[in-house]
This record gives sequence, C-alpha cells and structure tokens, in this order.
Amino acid sequence: MNRIEKLINKKKFIPLNQFINIALYDKKLGYYQNKKIFGRNGDFITSPFISSIFSEMISVWIVSYWIYIKKPKKINILELGPGIGLMIKQIINSIKKIKTFDAKLTVYLHEKSEKLIKIQKKNLSDFKNIIWVKNINKVNQNPTIIVANEFFDAFPIKQFFKESNNWYEQCIGFKNSNKKNITYYKNKINNNSIKKYSKFYNINKSKILEYPNNIETYVNSISRIIKNNNGIFLMFDYGYSSIVGKNTIRAIKKHRVVDLLKEYTDCDITFDINFNILKNIFKRNNIQNIGTVSQNFFLQKLGIMERADRIIKNQDAVTIKNLILSINKLINPKEMGNAFHALAFSNKNCKFNLGFI
Ligand SMILES: C[S@@+](CC[C@H](N)C(=O)[O-])C[C@H]1O[C@@H](n2cnc3c(N)ncnc32)[C@H](O)[C@@H]1O
Repeated sequence: MNRIEKLINKKKFIPLNQFINIALYDKKLGYYQNKKIFGRNGDFITSPFISSIFSEMISVWIVSYWIYIKKPKKINILELGPGIGLMIKQIINSIKKIKTFDAKLTVYLHEKSEKLIKIQKKNLSDFKNIIWVKNINKVNQNPTIIVANEFFDAFPIKQFFKESNNWYEQCIGFKNSNKKNITYYKNKINNNSIKKYSKFYNINKSKILEYPNNIETYVNSISRIIKNNNGIFLMFDYGYSSIVGKNTIRAIKKHRVVDLLKEYTDCDITFDINFNILKNIFKRNNIQNIGTVSQNFFLQKLGIMERADRIIKNQDAVTIKNLILSINKLINPKEMGNAFHALAFSNKNCKFNLGFI
C-alpha cells in the first residue's frame, strides 16, 4: 500500500486537499518530488518554457516599478514556486541587459519540493545573491517585487458540494472492500461550517465550492511584505472571478486530461483559481488589486510585439517562425492568451499600473 492507501485504510476516507497534498508533495510518492514535469517532453508546459520573451516582459515591468519607486540602491525579487528556476534565470539575464537598471539585486526563492530546489540550485549555480527561503517572511527589508507563475494552481484544494440542501466535503475512500481502487467519498458536514466561505462565494447560489488550503496564510504574508517593503506582487495563472463556485479540478499527464483517481501517482493535479478569493483577502489587508487582465492584454501592453520585431532582425527563417509560434501560444486568446490572467497587487497609494490599463 502507498501512503495514501495506508491513510485511507486507517481513517476510512481523507479530505481531497490532504489527498492532493500527498499525491503532489509527499517525499516518496509526490509528483513534484519525482517526475519530469515541465516542458514539451514533460506533462505540461508553462509560459517561460514557451519563450524567454515572456520573462523579458516581466523584467521590463520589474525595472519600470523600480524606476517608479525612485530607483532604490537595493531591491529584492521574491519568486513563489519557481519550478526548475527557468523564469528567474531568464529574468536575471534580461534585467542585466537593461542599462538603466543599476541596483543591487537579491533574489529569494520559495519552493516546496525538495527535488525542485536541487534542480533550481543546479540551474542557477552561475548566479550570486540567491537565497532559498522556507518562510517568505524572512526576506530582508529592501523593496521587494514578488512574482509567481502558476503558483496558486498547484495548491491542494478543498472541495464542498451541496445535495438536497446538505453540504458535503469531497473526500477520497476505497471503492470496495478489496481496497485496490480509490474513489470519491462524500462526507456530510454541518451546514454552518460552510458559512466561513461566504466571504468568497454566494453559498446559496453555489452548488460547489473550491478553496485552496493555506491560501490565506500566503496572501497575509505577501500583504505584509507589500506593506513593509514598498512591495508589489505580479502573478499569472488560470482562473475566473465569480461568486458562484464550480468544479474545476483536473489531472494532467503528457499534456492531456486524465482520470485523477487512476493516475494520481503520476500526474499533475490542478484547478482554476477563483480570483475573488485572492482579491477578497488582499482587500481585507488593505492591499489594492492594481489590475486583472488577460495574459494577452498584459504582454501586448508591455510591448511583446515591438520586442519581437527587434529580435527577428537579422535572424534566419526558422528562428523567426519559432518566435512567431511561441508568441502566438502566449497571447492568442484560443491558446494561453485568454485562459491565463495577469494580476497585480500593491499598497493603496500605489499608482503604478503598467500593463493593466
Ligand atoms: C505549476 S508549477 C509552476 C512552476 C513555475 N513557476 C513555472 O511557471 O514553470 C508550481 C510550482 O509551485 C511550487 N509550489 C506549490 N505549492 C507551493 C508552496 N506552498 N510553497 C512553495 N512552492 C510551492 C511547486 O513545487 C512548483 O514549483
């Protein structure tokens, strides 16, 4: 029996978030500890793998914010969930090429998977001033720009659903007494325990609620850094904004959706973020949402097409074709352009909104 089966054997069923946490992050079983995950030969592809032009746009945004806060001599970039460290590598390389930028840069990386930390250390061995932090509150006092690509969508989520006016928590149990296969198990809960989610959802209109466990702790820490370090937070992810919840959980393997219950030891498990949850917690902390726009809108505003025009000068036909295909993947509304959103958060008095209007 693997760790999940042993737990179910002991407890009869476990909540979905605990199941996902073990399936993704357990030292032995966890997908993020063992598998070749990213890129065209892995299970899914993220924007920095499509083209470094994505990270270049983020670098332009970072340097513009640094100018907006009057060019402090020292700044930090904190990346949440850096994967194999590709995006931060591309960001550091491209920031170095921006001549107006002359601050001392310290990079903080926050990563849950021990295996990915090892890979990040290897991939970033050429760079100085990189510090891995288990607790993001450990960043120094310098102005801090926090970035995250597809971070929250990798959180273990809780799921609740309503049937005949009763609320149930989505759990996982054994299918039958031979204990060979797992299945969904509905655990009836006290309807009052759902009330705490009414901050984020209309619980009368919703039949399903999803809530990324731990998200509040993270948003509170990010809010603290924004306040104490003249900070700003830029994130990209897939999601929606609605007060009515929906079932968005899915398992991905080799770029396809697969059966979560059959493949859970060997696939990514993800969901669409309800951005209302993030916005609501940030607002409560007095942090403003500078903007929520499609990835397409953001990258075009930042000048991805103008940058592409400059890159393709003097390039061969194959390089030009590949760049065009990559940009299409990043911004085409039918590809990642509309499904992915850029969101930024900062202090109430912050007027910096590059990319968002
Ligand atoms: C979907 S991957 C995205 C990786 C990378 N940002 C990219 O765009 O390629 C999610 C990343 O977040 C990390 N992660 C998820 N939850 C985390 C947590 N609570 N603390 C730190 N890292 C976490 C995962 O291990 C992984 O590196």
